[in-house]
Order: sequence, then C-alpha cells, then structure tokens
Amino acid sequence: SVGPDWPKTLLAWYAAHRRPLPWRTPEGAPPSEADVYRTVVSEFLLMRTRVRAAEGYFRRFLERFPGWDELARASEEEVLRLWQGIGFYRRAAYLRGLARAVVERHGGRFPRDPRAWDELPGIGPYLSGLLASKLLGLPEPAVDGNAQRVVARLFAWEGPKDDPGFVRRVREVLRAYIPSESTGTFNEALMELGETVCTPRAPRCLECPLQDVCAARRSGEPARYPRPATP
Ligand code: ADE
Ligand code: SF4
Repeated sequence: SVGPDWPKTLLAWYAAHRRPLPWRTPEGAPPSEADVYRTVVSEFLLMRTRVRAAEGYFRRFLERFPGWDELARASEEEVLRLWQGIGFYRRAAYLRGLARAVVERHGGRFPRDPRAWDELPGIGPYLSGLLASKLLGLPEPAVDGNAQRVVARLFAWEGPKDDPGFVRRVREVLRAYIPSESTGTFNEALMELGETVCTPRAPRCLECPLQDVCAARRSGEPARYPRPATP
C-alpha cells in the first residue's frame, strides 16, 4: 500500500531522470533576481504546455527579454509575436502585465511574500504553490493536471478529475507528503512523472518508480483513474 516513503522514491527517480533544461536553478541558496525572473517566465511557459515544446520559446524569450525591465517596456504585440505557436495566449499578456507590476509597484524586484502575489496578474493557486515551493522552499503543492492524475492513481481515487472536492483532496494529501527540504523539486518531479511515465491513456507502469505502491496499478486498469470530468 501507499506508505510514507513514496516521495523519497519519486525524488530519487527524478534525480536520475530529470532532463537537462535551460531554466533549472540549483536548490538551497536564495535565488537571485535573475533566477526568479527565469523561473517565473519558464513556469508561465510550462502551464498547459509540454516541457519539450516550451524549451525553444524560453530561449528566444530570454534573449529578447532578459529581465523584468525589458519585458515591462515591450508592447503586448511584440510579446505575443514571440509567443506565436505555443497557444494559451492569455498567459503572454498576463506575464507582460506581471512584469509591469513588478517594475511599477515593486521597484523591479519580484515580491518574496506569496500574499503579495494575489495582487499580481496571472498567478492562480497552481502557480502560487509552484513558485512558493521553488523560490521560497515553502511546503506548498502545485496541482496541475499531471499532479492530479499521478495522485489519483497512487491512491486509486476516482475523482472525477477537476472536481473541486477532488482537487482539494489532492492538495491536502500532497501538503502532508511534500518533503520540507526539497519542496520545489518534489513538485517538479511529480509533474515530470505525469508527463513522461504516468501519461493519461497508457501509463508506463513497468518504468514507474512508484509501481510497487500504486493502487491503480494493482487494480489492473490504471488508466481508469481519475474519471473524466463530468460535463
Ligand atoms: N511542468 C510545469 N513546470 C514544470 C517543471 N518545472 N518541471 C517539469 N514539469 C513541469
Ligand atoms: Fe502511474 Fe502506473 Fe506509476 Fe501508478 S504505477 S503512478 S499508474 S505509471
């Protein structure tokens, strides 16, 4: 059954399997403002977008807009032009609005208090949790579709997916398990497992570090979890 050790097992898998990516910053020391900017930009790009698809966009974006100032000064048109092809274009407008707010209201420094993020454009519960874990080391979960799916399967929770009560339960169980010394890495690892191994239709359970504890795998039909959202 699902014991207390699966987060460690997941982190060990991630340490061995994480893909080298341009935006990953070392854990431990407080991040520089440049690290914070890169993290925020990369996580905006990665919302609802696969890691491989986001990489090239990240490089071009950072080249043209190396920091908050450059992004805040750009026109929305130019930001959208760089975003062309990756979809979810509202993210681009939010990110530019965020840069303007950081420059105009916070003196060019992204606030280090998550309560201040509620007043900034584009930072909902998922991104707030992810940034709190990655930038501040806080034990906050980041519940996207990947995290929902992996947790639902691990515990054989039916959902349905996107149901508010289900999402709340996922957040609560993750808050209980998140290792306090690697909060950001844990959130990333969970999403990475969901993107590469515990995929929606044909999970690769035989490659999965959690196969011995996973309740959905034991059921014989892991892809049944979680049920699709009720229309
Ligand atoms: N999905 C969203 N952000 C991610 C990250 N930093 N690493 C892996 N998958 C992600
Ligand atoms: Fe997903 Fe299979 Fe791993 Fe369970 S064992 S978490 S269903 S890939």
